[in-house]
Amino acid sequence: MFIEQLAFAQQFVPNYDESKVPQFVVPDPLMTFKQKKVKNVKDWEKKRRPELLEFFTQNMFGEIPGELKISSYDVVEESGDVFSGKAKRKQVELTFEKNGKTIDFTILLYLPENVKKAPVFIGYNFYGNHTVADDANIIISGAWADNNESFGIVYNQLTEQSRGVRSNRWAIEKMIDAGMGLATIYYGEVDPDRNDFTDGIHPLLYVDDQKQPANNEWGSIAAWSWGLSRAMDYLEKDEDVDASKVIVFGHSRLGKTSIWAGVTDQRFAAVISNNSGCGGAALSKRKFGETVWRINNSFPHWFCKNFHNYSNNEELLPADQHELLALIAPRPLYVASAEEDQWADPRGEFLSAFYATPVYQLYGKKGIPSNIMPPVNSPIQHTVAYHIRTGAHDVTDYDWEQYIKWAKKELNIE
Ligand code: GCU
Repeated sequence: MFIEQLAFAQQFVPNYDESKVPQFVVPDPLMTFKQKKVKNVKDWEKKRRPELLEFFTQNMFGEIPGELKISSYDVVEESGDVFSGKAKRKQVELTFEKNGKTIDFTILLYLPENVKKAPVFIGYNFYGNHTVADDANIIISGAWADNNESFGIVYNQLTEQSRGVRSNRWAIEKMIDAGMGLATIYYGEVDPDRNDFTDGIHPLLYVDDQKQPANNEWGSIAAWSWGLSRAMDYLEKDEDVDASKVIVFGHSRLGKTSIWAGVTDQRFAAVISNNSGCGGAALSKRKFGETVWRINNSFPHWFCKNFHNYSNNEELLPADQHELLALIAPRPLYVASAEEDQWADPRGEFLSAFYATPVYQLYGKKGIPSNIMPPVNSPIQHTVAYHIRTGAHDVTDYDWEQYIKWAKKELNIE
């Protein structure tokens, strides 16, 4: 009895020991669920990609129950003299209306002055647009925010105190100097990050007296990805942006989001996953660090309810995260880990990029050539790229230097 109880309890203790990673068969991205071999791009695009996309939609992220276009947009602020004249700034508010409800979110854009149509990185921020740069003109969002005393957020409201506090995570000047721009949005404006489906974008698409998404309908990550696609709708209209070179970026939960956005919206020219971990780049079946049970338990609103069927049940998953990454092919994909970020399972993130590679090879693209992890701070940069840097769960200048260099090469940016 005691041993059984111990075994039961142990499944909830995070494992950080490589020798305790269970043995499992990595599902073959080039074999259909009905065991038919995928031989070429046509088989992939016509059969395998759609069935995998359907699996991840119905069982992990949830489907979006309807269409919702931008009702109106407004350039609420614009200035031509930022970063010593090297850049311009725009703040664009997008509004959505349906079911008698309205929400809006604001895209903050920094664009290089000397480029006619600039390629841009797009990604959400965790604590408001005003945290990404020490720039007095950035509008502070009124949306709900998780309290964080050190950032001056005590009544779930963002404040002046946190202006610029996350500038270390956004190497904006490096982007500008490389002839690229940044578009960023506070993710809480699209859907507040809490287990409550009465706020954010979800209610605009409820039918009748629906109170929460159905089991196969969108959780918060799918909602945030939806927001990135609507931002893309706007970027396609912005004369200063090269909409064919928009790279979707995200860190951590927002890295899970950038992956799903890149999978579901092929207008994103490239995808960057920074320390995305469980439910992002990391292989679920390894159960290393954060597990499916743990993430569903701590953040029950991130994925759709059907994903809870796999809590402590990873063996049952007919597909793993490398197949999610493969859905980005043939577009460039960068997976990055941090050495101290064991919770996100760096090795699982690396292997996922490696096991996604056969799909890139179908397109004649180069991925991760071997299953041996590179040493720290030694990036592998092909169409599929990977690095593990020294340090903690974070976004650093080192990360951005790699992303910029790689994006310029992969997307032919001059
Ligand atoms: C938690 C969570 C992770 C997530 C991270 C973040 O640590 O367990 O899955 O990536 O938060 O978003 O910061």
